[in-house]
Amino acid sequence: MTVMLLEFDDLHYSYPGGRGPVLQGVSFGIPEGKKCVLLGRNGCGKSTLFLHGNGIIQPQKGQVSWRGVPFVYKRQALQEMTQRVGLVFQDPEHQLIASTVSEDISYGLCNRKLPPEVIRAKVESILNVFGLRELADAPIHHLSLGQKRRLALAGVMVLEPELLLLDEPTAYLDRYQTKNLLRELDHIHQSGTTVLMATHDMDIAFEWAEWICVMDGGQLVFAGEPQEALEKREMLESLHLGLPLIAEVWDALPDTVKQGMEGSIPTSVDELKQRLAGRLVSSR
Ligand SMILES: Nc1ncnc2c1ncn2[C@@H]1O[C@H](COP(=O)(O)OP(=O)(O)OP(=O)(O)O)[C@@H](O)[C@H]1O
Ligand SMILES: [Mg+2]
Repeated sequence: MTVMLLEFDDLHYSYPGGRGPVLQGVSFGIPEGKKCVLLGRNGCGKSTLFLHGNGIIQPQKGQVSWRGVPFVYKRQALQEMTQRVGLVFQDPEHQLIASTVSEDISYGLCNRKLPPEVIRAKVESILNVFGLRELADAPIHHLSLGQKRRLALAGVMVLEPELLLLDEPTAYLDRYQTKNLLRELDHIHQSGTTVLMATHDMDIAFEWAEWICVMDGGQLVFAGEPQEALEKREMLESLHLGLPLIAEVWDALPDTVKQGMEGSIPTSVDELKQRLAGRLVSSR
């Protein structure tokens, strides 16, 4: 049975002084152990929803639950939630607070009052994992935007959250760092962390995710497996989200090539390669 780690139930939220409701009854659960992606056009409420995910924002109506238990908006309970749910902000400038890279990574660990030698060991290890070793003593304001993004993720991962919420983590990363990040997210996931990533990159979404959620107008409009999302291509197109390149390549293949390749649209290049290889073998 699928266990929902975090559940949003009929959330409503308007920013004070804002231009009207942002979340308008959004409901969905994040299944434990899955690599999940949240899609939705600019301004549909993804970042606002994430801020509800660890209690930074309290909904004006509806509730957020962790393993079926509703959030309690009191200091101690919220501190526990920020340990379970790691949120990496869309803008790293909102996340980084210390003056150097090492200090920033150790900040959350110091707040937990861990022994100095434990903190040192954890910081050392995470600097290596995120390729930040050479920047350990660099002032944060000297970092590039991509480096700041990696640091923001390192500062959250060092706290070992059960659920990781990533708000557009690949924006401003070059191809090499994007690949590194996705590989690192796979390691994080294999080590038992559930991940929900908001992204506008449809190729990354369909190549990486096991579960896709789509928001529009402050509501959830779809949740399901990537294959199922691709089968609802009118929905993706009507929301102007576009299609992953792999779906367009599939569409462009002549029927004679597709003949004998069972199943629906592949969601990754590897899957397409396997199908083509299988077809070549069976046609010999
Ligand atoms: N602090 C704020 N005060 C007032 N309105 C806000 C604030 N933050 C966001 N909004 C508004 O809330 C709406 C949803 O914003 P949000 O950032 O959640 O969308 P998003 O789906 O994350 O968009 P994007 O894909 O551009 O990151 C937008 O109309 C935005 O203008
Ligand atoms: Mg956003």
